[in-house]
Amino acid sequence: MTNKYMYFIANWKMFGDLKTINSLDKVIKFSKSHKKNKFKLIYCPPNTLIRPISKRLGKTNIEVGAQNSHQNLDYGAFTGQVNSKMLKSVGAKYVILGHSENRMAGEDDNLINLKIKNSIKSGLKIIFCIGETLKQKRDKKTNQVLNSQLKKGLKSIIKINDIIIAYEPVWSIGTGLIPSSEELSKSIKFIKSKFGKKSPKVLYGGSVNSKNIDQLKIIPDIDGFLIGGASQNPKKFIDIIKKTIN
Ligand code: 13P
Repeated sequence: MTNKYMYFIANWKMFGDLKTINSLDKVIKFSKSHKKNKFKLIYCPPNTLIRPISKRLGKTNIEVGAQNSHQNLDYGAFTGQVNSKMLKSVGAKYVILGHSENRMAGEDDNLINLKIKNSIKSGLKIIFCIGETLKQKRDKKTNQVLNSQLKKGLKSIIKINDIIIAYEPVWSIGTGLIPSSEELSKSIKFIKSKFGKKSPKVLYGGSVNSKNIDQLKIIPDIDGFLIGGASQNPKKFIDIIKKTIN
């Protein structure tokens, strides 16, 4: 059991249609029955579902975020893109930036930095993902990579209060693998040490499920979880939350 205020952020990735939204009802019910404010729930669905989900959530204290945003602050001729202002206008309060799936698709640190700055300007809070690849881990470069992603991604950003950091080792995403308790403690501590007393919240993401959550929730300094696959199933998602807070 933990007494800390914990974040549970659902990253639905490219999954879900209008029918999927019905699955939120169970989570809404669960959240209403636990009003003690011990946790914050945030859903990051595909852009197509931001509006309908935020309507369905209504006055609950569950919030909605997006999974990426275009770096431009204004409208422009960018086919297929959506910027942070547009996301905000349909109900998003957060945006995930720097996710490794987007880094792998070509987003570099400078671009991510620009996206973070402009999304903050639009009034969104940022879920900023960092993490090493398997090769970098094997080469013992984890700290070096985290340091560089933090430095470049957060360059000239003063409003650190608007940032939540999600440590997601690339090799743990969707693989069923998680870092050892020792490795994870070290990385979370390392990330927080870069900010001194004013450290943002630091979450863990990568294959979080209701079986490994007992091992993950006891990591000192961990402020919550960014959950992919398991967050699409309301029962699994609720199980993870229950096991963490009870
Ligand atoms: P999984 O929980 O499916 O491994 O995904 C993690 C993730 O990428 C969350 O952003």
